[in-house]
Amino acid sequence: MRITNLIVAASAASLVQALPSKREVKDIKKRTASGFTWVGVSESGAEFGSNIPGTLGTDYIWPETDKIAVLREAGMNIFRIPFLMERLTPDSLTGSFASTYLADLKSTVEYVTGTGAYAVLDPHNYGRYDGSIIESTSDFKTWWTNVATEFASNDLVIFDTNNEYHDMEESLVVELNQAAINGIRAAGATTQYIFVEGNAYTGAWSWTEYNDDMSALTDTEDKIIYEMHQYLDSDSSGTSETCVNSTIGQNRLESATEWLKTNGKLGFIGEFAGGVNSVCEEAVEGMLSYMSENSDVWTGAEWWSAGPWWGSYMYSLEPTTGAAYSTYLPILEKYFPANGTTASVAASGSASVAAATSTAAAIQETTTPNGPEATTSAGLVKQYYQCGGINWTGPTECESPYTCKEQNVWYYQCVAE
Ligand SMILES: *[C@@H]1O[C@H](CO)[C@@H](O)[C@H](O)[C@H]1NC(C)=O
Ligand SMILES: *[C@@H]1O[C@H](CO)[C@@H](O)[C@H](O)[C@H]1NC(C)=O
Ligand SMILES: *[C@@H]1O[C@H](CO)[C@@H](O)[C@H](O)[C@H]1NC(C)=O
Repeated sequence: MRITNLIVAASAASLVQALPSKREVKDIKKRTASGFTWVGVSESGAEFGSNIPGTLGTDYIWPETDKIAVLREAGMNIFRIPFLMERLTPDSLTGSFASTYLADLKSTVEYVTGTGAYAVLDPHNYGRYDGSIIESTSDFKTWWTNVATEFASNDLVIFDTNNEYHDMEESLVVELNQAAINGIRAAGATTQYIFVEGNAYTGAWSWTEYNDDMSALTDTEDKIIYEMHQYLDSDSSGTSETCVNSTIGQNRLESATEWLKTNGKLGFIGEFAGGVNSVCEEAVEGMLSYMSENSDVWTGAEWWSAGPWWGSYMYSLEPTTGAAYSTYLPILEKYFPANGTTASVAASGSASVAAATSTAAAIQETTTPNGPEATTSAGLVKQYYQCGGINWTGPTECESPYTCKEQNVWYYQCVAE
């Protein structure tokens, strides 16, 4: 989402894929109903306000752990924590940390990872520091080495190189991402995933036009995930409650999906949202369903956004009063990975082959979870479709020979025994 809007908002107070692909050998991923590894939300607050460094509680705020807990218990397993580089290292990119801000960032991260979920470190800086485009790849590398050193021992941390580079030379965006990757690995943080972002606000819809060169990035650990953002309003900026139409979510992801497949890369939608209205709800669900069908390349998504200071913001997922909470949590829930298990499987790396095999019965790849084709003419639920879960009002009996199995409390699915 674009920075101008952020400031306005802020001031307002079966069947298993049996064999892992080459890319996944190091990290056998548990396949849930959606096929996603991660579904979650950004937890805004520490990036709010234009006063630098600003005052905690006046200009910015940290997310509330009891609110994160509600979403975690519902089954989310990834929380992105936006913050400002100028608040973390106030003197310069290569300068020392502001100790209180670092400590607060760490305690938020540790809370999240302590629940078994992933925490994404998101310097929400648009490729800029102190108002200027970051030109020094070497300083940026040092910044990332210093930050990654603080989190090197936590496997559930994910490093997001920077939020939404834009209006920069594409070559610089690629070089900054590569410098971040190199800096993180140089810190000895070798087990974690790195989310890279592209130019043009890392938009999925325009990815092939602006970010083709991003395919050149390399990582000694082979754990790069391409983070793209996608809103469903007319200009993809995430500033309107109105979505273009009910299929725009899928439409805007199609070219990026092809790009990921062609280039053998994995993607993640790091920001997305729609207003509370039927067109957007259908468009959001259509996007997730399409991503789920293409979960060989899409690893999951994070809603924008939760956090304590959103007030009446149209996309707020803050439990339980956020404007989008009661509408969109049930939609997202259908795509949640199986609770708690993804983290341990992914984090334990190659040791997980046996675990992945033994839990194979609970792991499926599927097409759309709901929809008109979900039941037989006799009203029985077909293989892979939803058959239960909290607030499920649809049919619960599976067609033979499938049985209705709990994937998480929100989602039961018809699968083979
Ligand atoms: C999900 O995991 C959290 C943390 O381990 C736990 O507190 C919660 O009860 C779990 N929720 C479900 C739906 O299993
Ligand atoms: C929605 O809009 C997109 C982009 O203009 C278009 O390609 C698509 O066909 C539209 N879908 C419907 C159902 O009209
Ligand atoms: C789920 O159902 C309970 C009652 O069983 C209700 O209180 C709650 O609001 C429902 N939640 C959603 C998200 O619809």
